Amino acid sequence: MLPNIVLIGFMGSGKTSVGRHLSALTGHRFLDTDQIIREKTKMEITEIFSTLGEEAFRKLETEVLNEIVGTCGIILATGGGIVLREQNRQLLHQIGIVIWLDAQEEVLFQRISHNRKRPLLLTENPRATFHNLFLQRLPIYQKTAHTRIDSTHLTHLETAKKILTAAIKISKNLYNRSSNS
Ligand code: S3P
Repeated sequence: MLPNIVLIGFMGSGKTSVGRHLSALTGHRFLDTDQIIREKTKMEITEIFSTLGEEAFRKLETEVLNEIVGTCGIILATGGGIVLREQNRQLLHQIGIVIWLDAQEEVLFQRISHNRKRPLLLTENPRATFHNLFLQRLPIYQKTAHTRIDSTHLTHLETAKKILTAAIKISKNLYNRSSNS
């Protein structure tokens, strides 16, 4: 059976759009942690950050992952900072094959620079903030993901197809390894 696929990656990497394509290709249900948090709290993400603070948002992310563990047949898109907590990294692995959706830094920034929905970038110099966060996060995405897919020159659909092929291969390898041990 096709495994769950979990998409991690920086803001602008296209997790939600690519996740929807993956859902259409596989028939898996699409879930998005930011969306679930918005529904749970009836608040926008920027509002959660400004009124409750980032730590409260991170707690909500963990809560949502705990609720999802054990669910089959899903494609899960996650917020860019979900990998910051060790507990979350473990939960992501329990949920499915973890794919790091990546692209060139400038491309990522261009994709998100037109909207103000990212509370972490509401700073005096969003480009510099983006750069610093990007550098801090790279090693964390790297150590968390089963593999990295670069979407810089791909459409969302092409990226989704590439992820699907990679996820099937990884899940076969994981299965073979566990049945041989
Ligand atoms: C965040 C990324 C956002 C959202 C929140 C925090 C981050 O999601 O979860 O603003 O820490 O990088 P996207 O990655 O979908 O933009």
